[in-house]
Amino acid sequence: MDVFEAMETCRAIRYFKTEPVDQALIDKVLYAATRAPSPGNTQGWDFVVVTDPELRTRLGKGIAAVMAPAVEQAAKSFGGAQGQPDAVQRRMLEGALNLAQRLHEIPVHILVCGKAIYPPDNPHEGFVWSAIYPATQNILVAARSLGLGTCLTTYQMAAEPLIREVLGIPDDVHIGAYLPMGWPDIGFGPLARRPVDTFVHNNGW
Ligand SMILES: Cc1cc2nc3c(=O)[nH]c(=O)nc-3n(C[C@H](O)[C@H](O)[C@H](O)COP(=O)(O)O)c2cc1C
Repeated sequence: MDVFEAMETCRAIRYFKTEPVDQALIDKVLYAATRAPSPGNTQGWDFVVVTDPELRTRLGKGIAAVMAPAVEQAAKSFGGAQGQPDAVQRRMLEGALNLAQRLHEIPVHILVCGKAIYPPDNPHEGFVWSAIYPATQNILVAARSLGLGTCLTTYQMAAEPLIREVLGIPDDVHIGAYLPMGWPDIGFGPLARRPVDTFVHNNGW
C-alpha cells in the first residue's frame, strides 16, 4: 500500500475482532518501529509485546476500571462547558469507552518504552519521547498498511503501577504509549483533519 494512502486512512481503531494476529505480522510492525529516527541514532526504545490472554486480562481489567469512568466523565464535560458533543466527538467517546471496556479481548498490546540515554554524557528525559513517538507512528502506519488496526493511547497513565508490576517494567524505563493492535471490526479512514494551509506558515510565522 502507498504510504500516503496508509497515512490518510490510519484512523484510531477502537473496535476489534478477537482473532489472533500472526507473529510474522507483529514482527513486521516492530521492524517498522525500529526503522524510526532517534536522537543521535541512539535507538532508545523498547517494546513490550503482550499477547498472553491472562496478562491481557489483568492489564485490561485494571485499565478499564480507571478509563471507563474517565471516558464517561469526559462525555459529560463535552456536554457541559463545550455544549453537546458533536457527532464526531460522540463517536470518539463511544469508541473510547468500547476500547477501554474490551481492551482485554484485543489480541496484541504493544507498550512503547524508552530509557533516558541521550545525550550519552548527560541523559535528558525529554529525549526519551523523541525516540518513542517516531517509533510509535511507524507502528501505526505499518499496521494500517497490513490491514491491522491500532489506537495510540496513554493508558499507561491510568494504571502505571499495575502495568509495571504485571510486566516487570523497571523504574528507569519510561512507558510512552500503549497500543492495542488487532484486526479491525470497523472500517479504516478517512481522517477528520483541518486543511493543511491552516497550519503552514511560509517563510515565517
Ligand atoms: C498522545 C495521544 C494519546 C491518546 N490517548 C487516547 C486514549 O487514551 N484513548 C483513545 O481512545 N484514543 C486516544 N488517542 C487517539 C486520539 O483520540 C485520536 O488519534 C484522535 O482523536 C484523532 O482521531 P483519528 O486518529 O481517528 O483520526 C490518543 C492520541 C494521542 C496522540
